[in-house]
Amino acid sequence: MKKVVLAYSGGLDTSCIVRWLKDKGYQVICFVADLGQGLGKGEDLDAIEERAEAAGASEVYIKDLQDEFVEDFCMPALKANAIYEGKYLLATALGRPLIAKHLVQIAHKEKADAIAHGCTGKGNDQVRFEVTAGILDSKLEVLAPVRIWEFKSREEEIEYAKAHSIPIDVSKKKPYSIDRNIWGVSIEAGVLEDLDVEPPDDAYLITKSPSHMSSYPKYLDIYFEKGVPKKIDGKSQKLKNLISYLNEVGGAHGVGRVDSVENRLVGIKSREIYEAPAATILHLAHKDLESVVLDRELAHFKEIVTLKYSELIYFGLWYAPLKKALDGFIEATQSQVTGSIRVKLSKGSCSVVGRKSTHSLYKKELSTYGKGDKFDQKLAEGFIKLWGLPYKK
Ligand code: ARG
Repeated sequence: MKKVVLAYSGGLDTSCIVRWLKDKGYQVICFVADLGQGLGKGEDLDAIEERAEAAGASEVYIKDLQDEFVEDFCMPALKANAIYEGKYLLATALGRPLIAKHLVQIAHKEKADAIAHGCTGKGNDQVRFEVTAGILDSKLEVLAPVRIWEFKSREEEIEYAKAHSIPIDVSKKKPYSIDRNIWGVSIEAGVLEDLDVEPPDDAYLITKSPSHMSSYPKYLDIYFEKGVPKKIDGKSQKLKNLISYLNEVGGAHGVGRVDSVENRLVGIKSREIYEAPAATILHLAHKDLESVVLDRELAHFKEIVTLKYSELIYFGLWYAPLKKALDGFIEATQSQVTGSIRVKLSKGSCSVVGRKSTHSLYKKELSTYGKGDKFDQKLAEGFIKLWGLPYKK
């Protein structure tokens, strides 16, 4: 019997996949990755495990990967200021290579022949899973049942689940397709497919709408060390907790919503809305701190790297050689990115209102228009003459 390790979410699709693969002659091992999607909140982990087993899994692995996710995936993205097409903070895209890495590890441990995922043939996630797996172990087979199976609708899947006594809660009609982790929520499908429709309030999961958000602004002091957030309001916090806290306060102030039409890797455009309160606040604060401590040439060149780095993440090339090489550059840019940024959260917006750093390259005595000016304005004349010389010629 061939063995396969499946990335299992506990939902309808992956539960049907367990049984479907079993019917095709596979022994199915399920892997549930906890990236902070709220596992164990709405539903206990035992229920997920039981469902996998009821569907036919021979074994279920559940791993809490939140620390690894924020430290080894979200932080490099933050240091790089990685945002796809200027809008998407890449929560889903960052999670895929990590899940794939663990799928491959479990496959090795279990001496499995293949790994499997529940992605459709139209999205980016299938690419991310399969390219990552291919880089980590080119011999492992990858199965993507949703691309080839016979079910044409959710209803048909529900029928199949019922017929095979897979305990699925179908009471909640899912109007959207949602992917969630601690770095953010991605929401698509349903009415969102109409570009001209404003996302209804019920589409958002973790951010408050204007009518419900706090009317008092909230100030936060975020301290970074070499590009990584370490303290909030002077209190050291474990990274995962710091991010959860920012999701909570940011969400209460309606911060971090994005409505975007993006270019997928597979060539189509799609409309997706995102919620990422913590990532939004941290990206804004981090970039602002860089504006204080990085010199102009480095800052401007880094923008070019940022663009490429964001694409690599979105395109599923986390483990590609270029990404690794750029990591060396990004890491080098962060040596001075230490200091505090004060942000103000208010009515859906987040803005930087204060900065402090011992590595600051801002020198008031050079910039001031007031007393104590040490800038020698006479030098400007010669500078302009030489710098503008080519254009005068
Ligand atoms: N468009 C995003 C990406 O490619 C999110 C994909 C998953 N979205 C979802 N709602 N299930 O990374």
